[in-house]
Amino acid sequence: EAFSGRGVWRYADALPVDAGVSVQEGDTPLYEAPDVAAAAGVADVRVKHEGMNPTGSFKDRGMTVGVRVAERLGVDRLACASTGNTSAALAAYGGRADTPVLVLLPAGKVAAGKIAQAALHGARICEVDGNFDDCLDVVAELAARGEAYLLNSLNPFRLEGQKTIAFEILEQSRTATGEWPDRIVLPVGNAGNTAALYKAFRELVAAGAMTDDEMPALTGVQAAGAAPMVEAVEAGRGRTERWTDVETRATAIRIGNPVNAPKALPGVYETGGTAVAVSDDRITDAQRMLAGDGIGVEPASAASVAGLLALRERGEISADERVVCLTTGHLLKDPAAAAAAGGDTTPVPADADGVLDAL
Ligand code: F0G
Repeated sequence: EAFSGRGVWRYADALPVDAGVSVQEGDTPLYEAPDVAAAAGVADVRVKHEGMNPTGSFKDRGMTVGVRVAERLGVDRLACASTGNTSAALAAYGGRADTPVLVLLPAGKVAAGKIAQAALHGARICEVDGNFDDCLDVVAELAARGEAYLLNSLNPFRLEGQKTIAFEILEQSRTATGEWPDRIVLPVGNAGNTAALYKAFRELVAAGAMTDDEMPALTGVQAAGAAPMVEAVEAGRGRTERWTDVETRATAIRIGNPVNAPKALPGVYETGGTAVAVSDDRITDAQRMLAGDGIGVEPASAASVAGLLALRERGEISADERVVCLTTGHLLKDPAAAAAAGGDTTPVPADADGVLDAL
């Protein structure tokens, strides 16, 4: 592939394969966000927008690595359970690798843009009568029976690719401000990114490139209706307890059994981070606020900003911290949520005076 030495593959030395099945993933923008900074009362807030990846979410970073490994293994079928974005990314990368893709989705709980992507990229889509955690149980059993190669974040090669989010944040922050961030605030579903970022920091420490004290505080945000990780952090536990009833407008993180929590929780504790739950209304407010800074994200992504605001109100983040909020998916993933959060349209006649009258 021509795409070597760029994006995710700029960090090939830190990855288990030296080239990927690639549609040019990574190298996403780190934006300033003045409205968010003003609302939070924090001088230096930046937004790492993973929605700017090829299929519109951070999943591409994991798939370029994971699908490459699957290709080398010579598997016949790739599979995942998904709240939507994983299925969109796997469908695209499976298409590029010419390997059939099976996706299991919770029926009625996946945003339209994501299903459209999985369908057009050619995945076989099964809608399961159950939530995401049920879907993952089923697909894990299919993988254990040898029927498919699993590409959820239980697959360690996925998380290897997602480590590059950390490398890019550190490099881009240093280029922009001369400093590394003090804190990274991120939405949590299965806690794959939290685990991946922590692994990236630990590797930098092991390589002598970073000290323990320099690791940014990993700060996870969940929707109040699906917050097993917050519950675990509040109790100081190293494991989560499964929530069987989960609900949130941020369907991407409608997850009750974060499978990477045992790897992610030590990262929260050892970096001096925390976890916080936010209401759906606060998620939508944050989505509007980001949109006002020109940054279009889906609801789950806005949870990071909602979490920053909530922690500021509680006095758990100080005004002089350098904060990076991770926004994980693009606005167009969930057009219905965006339309509902936005303003109404105005019907007008087809003439200039009519338009001016309506204004
Ligand atoms: N944000 C978005 C937009 C997501 O799609 C996901 C997970 C997360 C955050 C949570 O990330 O699992 O690393 O804590 N989506 C998965 C999916 C579950 O199937 O697309 P995590």
